[in-house]
Formats: sequence, C-alpha cells, structure tokens
Amino acid sequence: MPKICFHGREIECELGANLRQVLMARGLPLYHPAARVIHCRGLGTCGTCAVKIEGNVSEMTAVERWRLNFPPHQSQSGLRLACQCKVLGDLRIEKWEGLWGHRR
Ligand code: FES
Repeated sequence: MPKICFHGREIECELGANLRQVLMARGLPLYHPAARVIHCRGLGTCGTCAVKIEGNVSEMTAVERWRLNFPPHQSQSGLRLACQCKVLGDLRIEKWEGLWGHRR
C-alpha cells in the first residue's frame, strides 16, 4: 500500500486510488477554505485542488493539462490536480497558498 505524506501527516491508500478522494476521506486540507464550497467536485475544471507532488502518479489528463495552463495556474509550476491523479507509489504532497493553491 502506498504511503502519502501530507504536511507531516502520513496515511496509506490503495494502489491506483484517486488522490483527491484519498485526501478528502482522511480530512486532509486539500482545498483553501473558500474553495471547499465552490470546487468542481473532481471534474478537473476549477483548478483548486492543485498540489505539488513528489512521487509516482498517473500521467496528466487532457483536462488537467488544459486547466494548469489557464490562469492563475502556469504550466511551469509543476503542480498537479489531485482530482486527476491516481496514486502509483509513495508520495509527498505539499499544498501551496491561495485559492487555487498556486502561490508558494
Ligand atoms: S476539484 Fe476542481 S480541478 Fe480538481
């Protein structure tokens, strides 16, 4: 079972699990407080579930690539959308500041 380290907390999940669902099920703060009520519920369109990931996750989806190239996100940030990622190994996750989690 892959281990996920999120700001000092460590959890485990099934291989191939959806990262957003795993983090939310464990009550980890994936979203900025204001985004908790306005996010797209995992469709990949709002961009508020962006996180920095160290480790192996699934390839970027087309909608994820589109959203991360759309402001305020920037393609060079290296961020990923948790709702579009499957967990494929141990991960270290960092949530940045701002409504979209795009500011370090
Ligand atoms: S929840 Fe909206 S992009 Fe991931």
